[in-house]
Amino acid sequence: MRGSVAEFLEGGSLDEASWREFASGIFYLAGDLNEPPTFETLTTRLGEIEESRATAGNVLFYLSTLPSHYDPAVQGLGRAGLARGNGWRRLIVEKPFGHDLATAQDLNHRLHRVFPESEIYRIDHYLGKETVQNILAFRFGNGIFEPLWNRRYVDHVQITGAESIGVEGRGAYYQEAGALRDMIQNHLLQVMATVAMEPPAAFEPNAVRDERAKLLRSIRILKPEEVALDAVAGQYGPARVGGEELPGFRQEPGVDAGSRTDTYAAATFFVDNWRWAGVPFYLRTGKRLPKRVTDIVIQFHSAPHSLFPGNQLMPTLLILRIQPEEGISLRFLSKVPGERMTLRPVSMDFNYGASFGEHSPSAYETLLVDAMAGDATLYTRQDMVEASWTAVQPILDAWAARQFEFPNYDAGSWGPAAADQMLARRGHAWRVP
Ligand code: BG6
Repeated sequence: MRGSVAEFLEGGSLDEASWREFASGIFYLAGDLNEPPTFETLTTRLGEIEESRATAGNVLFYLSTLPSHYDPAVQGLGRAGLARGNGWRRLIVEKPFGHDLATAQDLNHRLHRVFPESEIYRIDHYLGKETVQNILAFRFGNGIFEPLWNRRYVDHVQITGAESIGVEGRGAYYQEAGALRDMIQNHLLQVMATVAMEPPAAFEPNAVRDERAKLLRSIRILKPEEVALDAVAGQYGPARVGGEELPGFRQEPGVDAGSRTDTYAAATFFVDNWRWAGVPFYLRTGKRLPKRVTDIVIQFHSAPHSLFPGNQLMPTLLILRIQPEEGISLRFLSKVPGERMTLRPVSMDFNYGASFGEHSPSAYETLLVDAMAGDATLYTRQDMVEASWTAVQPILDAWAARQFEFPNYDAGSWGPAAADQMLARRGHAWRVP
């Protein structure tokens, strides 16, 4: 643990005295989650800690374990009476939260037998990212963007969560999950909700979460026959990239030679409300894409009429870069200096590093401190989790019944051709990040 603390201690070195003080508060208890004595020992230990370290009885339980252990762990805590105490008792639940809508509902039901919803903190680390939190500041802290933030001005929105890595030793987990479950159901839909939600009445946990939940519930549910056109699955095959031989997904350790898991997923969503009716939201994610980048592109309508012969009109783009090179750019047309009226796109850029210089807390630092402080703004609530599963469920169902010709994209490429066709049908194209 000391090694990890030293590694992740940003901007400082770990001196002996601080480590000793910190380490005196670390205890380790081994036990079987299915055996009541484990929880009896835990009760005794927590009682001792409450006294010796003056914790006032406050306890944050953190389920960072295999999902199959969530239920026995929580029921064990409940039976031992540990969900109530002198102080607050909270529960953090890691992802994945369920495997589909039915299992997520079932998990919610089981957790609620022991902890009330107000004490359950479901982690989605994307919501803790500074750049995702900044979407709210950008939209609701400024007067000029919000009036444009709707179907009258916005043509469509693209949300990309690309990764260059493969499955990095997590083949066995990933094979059961796939890209749609691993990234779209949670992270990218939460980002979409943050981009598209209505302004909350106040910056308070439930007011913000109400708006995110409302947006997720407004996502139009794809009909089975629409899935074939508005959702695309991919799986990477081997390729030689920059002199390096990259294995295909089916060659990764822990993955079946005939695996049908998606390592790439893209989907088109519509939001059925007054603000967004008719505006496509294109979401995509994948492993082994050309680079690691998460961004949101808001594409505005082009000018209605071209005044400058010989120049092609190009829509204005607002690009929110979540990671890396965190920042915001506005891309618009400008006159190239010279005698002729020639237009070319240019960028107006804000860059976090250049403007603030300082190190931002990692998403997990933010989220864990928030949970200790009892602030659930950046945690997902039962209704949000169930609404996002509801949005992806028809895609999961359709894909489970389909035979894909996998692999269908090369490691190091931008994914299957069908993902380009999905946008081309509506006259759009993915922006290369
Ligand atoms: C995790 C997924 O939730 O998010 C991983 O399970 C993925 O597969 C990761 O790599 C991406 O997170 P980040 O913060 O690196 O974009």
